[in-house]
Amino acid sequence: MGQKMKKKNKKISYRKNLKKGKRVNELIYQWEVTPQLKQRSSLMLLNYDGKVDVHDLLQSIPEASLRESNSYGQITFDNTNNALIYGDNIAVLKHFMNDPKVNGKVKLVYIDPPFSTRQIFRRGSNRTATISASDNDEIAYIDHLAGAEFLEFLRQRIILIRELLSDDGSIYVHIDSKMEHYLKVLMDEIFGREHFINDITRIKCNPKNFSRKGYGNIKDTILFYSKTNQYIWNEPHQEMTEEEINRLFPKIDKNGRRYTTTPLHAPGETKNGATGKEWNGLFPPHGRHWRISPKELTRLEKSGLIEWSSSGNPRKKIFADEVLSRGKKIQDVWELKDPQYPTYPTEKNLDLIKRIIEASSNPGDIIMDCFAGSGTTLMAAELLKRKWIGIDNSKIAISTAIKKIKEISNVSSFTLFSCNEKKRQ
Ligand SMILES: C[S@@+](CC[C@H](N)C(=O)[O-])C[C@H]1O[C@@H](n2cnc3c(N)ncnc32)[C@H](O)[C@@H]1O
Repeated sequence: MGQKMKKKNKKISYRKNLKKGKRVNELIYQWEVTPQLKQRSSLMLLNYDGKVDVHDLLQSIPEASLRESNSYGQITFDNTNNALIYGDNIAVLKHFMNDPKVNGKVKLVYIDPPFSTRQIFRRGSNRTATISASDNDEIAYIDHLAGAEFLEFLRQRIILIRELLSDDGSIYVHIDSKMEHYLKVLMDEIFGREHFINDITRIKCNPKNFSRKGYGNIKDTILFYSKTNQYIWNEPHQEMTEEEINRLFPKIDKNGRRYTTTPLHAPGETKNGATGKEWNGLFPPHGRHWRISPKELTRLEKSGLIEWSSSGNPRKKIFADEVLSRGKKIQDVWELKDPQYPTYPTEKNLDLIKRIIEASSNPGDIIMDCFAGSGTTLMAAELLKRKWIGIDNSKIAISTAIKKIKEISNVSSFTLFSCNEKKRQ
């Protein structure tokens, strides 16, 4: 076959994949066949040595089967039970792509992979702190990949995870400041920039006074992407502290109710609409418009919900008790530090993962963590009545997770599997 013909056939098979709606294939198609699209501002790709074509990727992952631990009968995850799996997550993820009970059914993935720290993480008999470990302590896992190799390791797994997600599913990826910017670009490639929702700044520890030439690092990041625009979202709210209530609602009315006021006009002029019209002998100030129609303003006035400022401006009263009953909206900086005495190195804060699970899934949904470590995600999912799948290739992680989960009272059943894979080509 001539070179031209080969190219044409390649184009056709990519087009077929495009029709199947596979975003990653679509990107590969654009990347390889029409490189001029790289110029488009909406399409930014990260290029590095060893970036594998998606088609080659799927072929190169070994076929694997799951065996219930301590037995030899081959069992597949049956969707009614939770699963803890010992093995390399890439083989397990590929295995699940062929399992209709899992493929396209996972509603939420949280992953906290190694961060390319080039450290050995150990668990001692007394302490499990990363920086205080001794060489005699058992190795929990080794975080040795760096640069492009690390990025490709994650990219391959995230491509497979995206396949397993349901259309209303989403993913949260925990990463530190050295790698987050590269990973953000890769996530944009895999999920589409339009499906980027947040990069949550997580305050992870108390301020440090290390003699480093630079600012102290007290945060890491959680990248949040959805698979489509129709993703599960249970708006999370947070209780206010007494200090916040007093600061945000400084006034007290004659009935003893705490309140504050907000302006009733906003920037921008309305040319013809009601919000540009006169109300109570007043026009909105120059360059501004009423936030609500004059009719609504009159209704507020009659209900006693408008207070006049000393400069003669109407302001809306907002009562603390009304806001408190629903709590305040959670923003994208979270101060949820990790346990001081972890059971496993780099163990994450349980409340942090509970917050993610509550916001982005519903009871009964399947939650997956394929870098499960000590099983914090699995524990959070169990406590919140979700189904869960945990994967890790460290025996210490698996045993720690089993212990953690078993300590939950009325814990639902789960099966321990090990993943048997053929050698990777
Ligand atoms: C940062 S730890 C996760 C900690 C966890 N979030 C917790 O709260 O305990 C990362 C985990 O990923 C696991 N891991 C690394 N590479 C893996 C792979 N290829 N397959 C499965 N697990 C892997 C490590 O064994 C380690 O337990």
